[in-house]
Amino acid sequence: MPQIDTEVLSSYPPPAAFADAANATSDLYDEAEKDRLAFWGAQAERLSWETPFTDVLDWSDAPFAKWFVGGRLNVAYNCVDRHVEAGHGDRVAIHWVGEPVDDERTITYAQLKDEVCKAANALTELGLVAGDRVAIYMPMVPEAIVAMLACARLGAMHSVVFAGYSASALRARIEDAEAKLVITTDGQFRRGKAVSLKEAVDDAVRESGSERESTVEHVLVVRRTGIDVEWTEGRDLWWHDIVDPASTDHTPEAFDAEHPLFLLYTSGTTGKPKGILHTSGGYLTQSSYTHFNVFDVKPESDVYWCTADIGWITGHTYIVYGPLSNGVTQVVYEGTPASPDEHRHFQVIEKYGVTIYYTAPTLVRTFMKWGRQLPAEHDLSSLRLLGSVGEPINPEAWRWYRMAFGSDETPIVDTWWQTETGSAMISPLPGVTTCKPGSAMRPLPGISAKIVDDDGNQLEPGTDHGEQANGYLVLDKPWPSMLRGIWGDPDRFKETYWSRFAEQGWYFAGDGARYGKDGEIWVLGRIDDVMNISGHRISTAEVESALVGHSGVAEAAVVGATDDQTGQAICAFVILKAHHADTPQEQMVDELRKQVATEISPIARPREIHVVPELPKTRSGKIMRRLLRDVAEGRELGDTSTLVDPSVFEAIRASK
Ligand code: WTA
Repeated sequence: MPQIDTEVLSSYPPPAAFADAANATSDLYDEAEKDRLAFWGAQAERLSWETPFTDVLDWSDAPFAKWFVGGRLNVAYNCVDRHVEAGHGDRVAIHWVGEPVDDERTITYAQLKDEVCKAANALTELGLVAGDRVAIYMPMVPEAIVAMLACARLGAMHSVVFAGYSASALRARIEDAEAKLVITTDGQFRRGKAVSLKEAVDDAVRESGSERESTVEHVLVVRRTGIDVEWTEGRDLWWHDIVDPASTDHTPEAFDAEHPLFLLYTSGTTGKPKGILHTSGGYLTQSSYTHFNVFDVKPESDVYWCTADIGWITGHTYIVYGPLSNGVTQVVYEGTPASPDEHRHFQVIEKYGVTIYYTAPTLVRTFMKWGRQLPAEHDLSSLRLLGSVGEPINPEAWRWYRMAFGSDETPIVDTWWQTETGSAMISPLPGVTTCKPGSAMRPLPGISAKIVDDDGNQLEPGTDHGEQANGYLVLDKPWPSMLRGIWGDPDRFKETYWSRFAEQGWYFAGDGARYGKDGEIWVLGRIDDVMNISGHRISTAEVESALVGHSGVAEAAVVGATDDQTGQAICAFVILKAHHADTPQEQMVDELRKQVATEISPIARPREIHVVPELPKTRSGKIMRRLLRDVAEGRELGDTSTLVDPSVFEAIRASK
């Protein structure tokens, strides 16, 4: 965990002109403070409800919350139709930028509405009804957003699976959700090359590993690259054959505020990913409210760009539901930042006059590595607000970001939140908050968070800055976009999030944090067995289970070690089975790295794999990950007294 001396850091007040025109003023804190539930009720009124809600919150069945009780709405209607009805049909919703240069599309709100209606009609034709699950496994093409909104419109749940995940990761998610339909593309462009995507779907659906027959009835395929694909007659359908000719007339049905909206799988501390469940009214209320206030969006003039992928929660909330519910114009980019070269993001900002740019610290650090010259060659003067998400942003990266992207003037919103929280929770308000680089500052108006010790006592702001001031970050009051459960596993939901401080009834986020001297929050990172690699959550157990899936591996232990570029990097320690003693180590390590990429995703490929003769274990047989982290980070070993055999380290060190 980074040790940051908060005292010596300067602070950054909002520029006066920004503050004068800001959507959010400090009144928001006062209003929320006065009557929290009334405040949320007022935020919900920013949406269009077919039937008004009668109560803001029913927490009687905690931790299963019901927000906006009795209210009925259609999420897609709120994101699309109502802007058209309000006369903004000609406003651009999406400036889509494909990975190949000059492959671009502009989609207005009126056009988006037509596309969503056509897709909704086509999905209905395929037999999809409210409550069904649809897996979406697609690159960042407009149809992916259309598909999500079409599901929302029908009350079907989407489960978007990041297109960088492997066939087996996709299969696990399809099976857990019992998805009826998979929407995908023939292939995707990666660094100028068309690579297959549908093949992984074929594998995931065909080799369904289990006894059961696949629940998937159809695979709907968008033609993106034109590469050859295998075709299963009857099951596979082209998007252009069934969506394009469908009618643009579709009447949206209103659903209960608590009707499920989507599942999104995220890593937990075990090997099995959790299907995080979000519902309609509360999720949309907080997504829309935070997007409006934290990003200060002016729908008439801003061009907003969030660089996340729709495969993650950031893409759900701050590409799809937040921006579209606010009727904003945004850029959606399909490719990577270095495609065809490192100028790409700056060219896009320049070309579209991007005003708000939201990205991850790992990318900021990548830009830093590429150098100051790159942004200096472009006119970035349109930018007026910058955002950061996914991991703590180190103060140096924060300052560089503001300097290189924001002429050392623009506010930066460092937004702390999680897949589970649904939308931003701790963040500056850009026209209000005086920021300290590296701190996400304070809970947003309406949100309550605390840093507490083992017993749940709140830590004192501004105590000293040593380890002892670190505590657990908890959310001590329910919030509208909170997860409503883990798909099919209510016990795991309670156990994972609500058992650490069960007595107090608080949600424990899994992050460590501490207060700075002005009471601001410094999030330090995960304190469970979840790693954060370039902002992606990957559990140690998942990688371990992929490694032991290889016939040559007897045992594996995985830790996240600090990495300048990616925040953390995956370091694995493996013991080989005797019959592999003769396989050259390099070959083995190569095979194992490939194995993890195939089992999970290339993003989970370990940076280092060390073949070791033994793993450090306690007398009760538990692997001492803390010690392995010391080894991986080249530190002196911590306390080894509980180990069975402290000398294993000499052997481990020797093998590094
Ligand atoms: C980390 C991403 C510090 C944190 C939206 C959290 C952050 C996990 C920040 C959730 C931030 C996210 N400062 N840490 N601004 N934002 N995190 O579910 O450890 O992919 O628990 O959601 O990312 O990751 P997830």
